Amino acid sequence: MEALEWHKAAAELAWQVDCGVTECIGEAPINRYELPAATEKKAAAPVAAPALVAEADPVAEAQSLAASADTLEALAAAQEAFDHCELKRGARSFVFSDGTVGAPVLILGEAPGRDEDREGKPFVGRAGQLLDKMLAAINMSRTENVYITNVLPWRPPQNRDPKPDEVAMMLPFVRRHIELTAPKVLVAMGNHSCHALLQKKGITRLRGQWHEAEGLPVIPMLHPAYLLRQPHAKRNAWEDLLALKSRLT
Ligand code: URA
Repeated sequence: MEALEWHKAAAELAWQVDCGVTECIGEAPINRYELPAATEKKAAAPVAAPALVAEADPVAEAQSLAASADTLEALAAAQEAFDHCELKRGARSFVFSDGTVGAPVLILGEAPGRDEDREGKPFVGRAGQLLDKMLAAINMSRTENVYITNVLPWRPPQNRDPKPDEVAMMLPFVRRHIELTAPKVLVAMGNHSCHALLQKKGITRLRGQWHEAEGLPVIPMLHPAYLLRQPHAKRNAWEDLLALKSRLT
């Protein structure tokens, strides 16, 4: 199926679910009495020989692909071609990064949302616009001194949370991404990014303190999408932005 057909099919299915459909019924009736009796004995199927081909290990494959990418272009090509992540089938775009290569700050978000999926760039929707304002408040911007990527390069359906196996198979690419861009500090933007980098959950407890991952200082911050829902938490975000700024000066 073409990518657009997939979206049309998914939208139609979602519409039926919204209407309360719980079963799929064909358009033409089926006379079950005319079908061969379910109890009819079938000839025993030959027992298949055990498969000699080893099952693919997506994490090991991602590690080897990421390790052999020597440039960001090669890394993007290898990650985009990686076929083990189901999210790829439902996404419109592969979202790799935005911002300044060689910037001192790398912001690691969670995953593209609807706007990012449409535009092929991270943090371009409402949360992204707030992120740009937050950065501007400390005289930073993606056009000058910030590089942005996400844990997952494909949008999860309905923006659901990333699954642990999806994160595990994308982490080797994220790690190589960090190595190739060589920032001075990392910002773990939101709970999932924080968990992916630090293997610790609880962004409201972890935010605002410096941790270490990938040999670099990491500051977990409240995700701008969370700040849009909980504006009172902007005070905490401001403290974290100041901590970032002073670490860099
Ligand atoms: N939220 C994220 O974490 N990343 C994006 O790219 C957009 C929204």
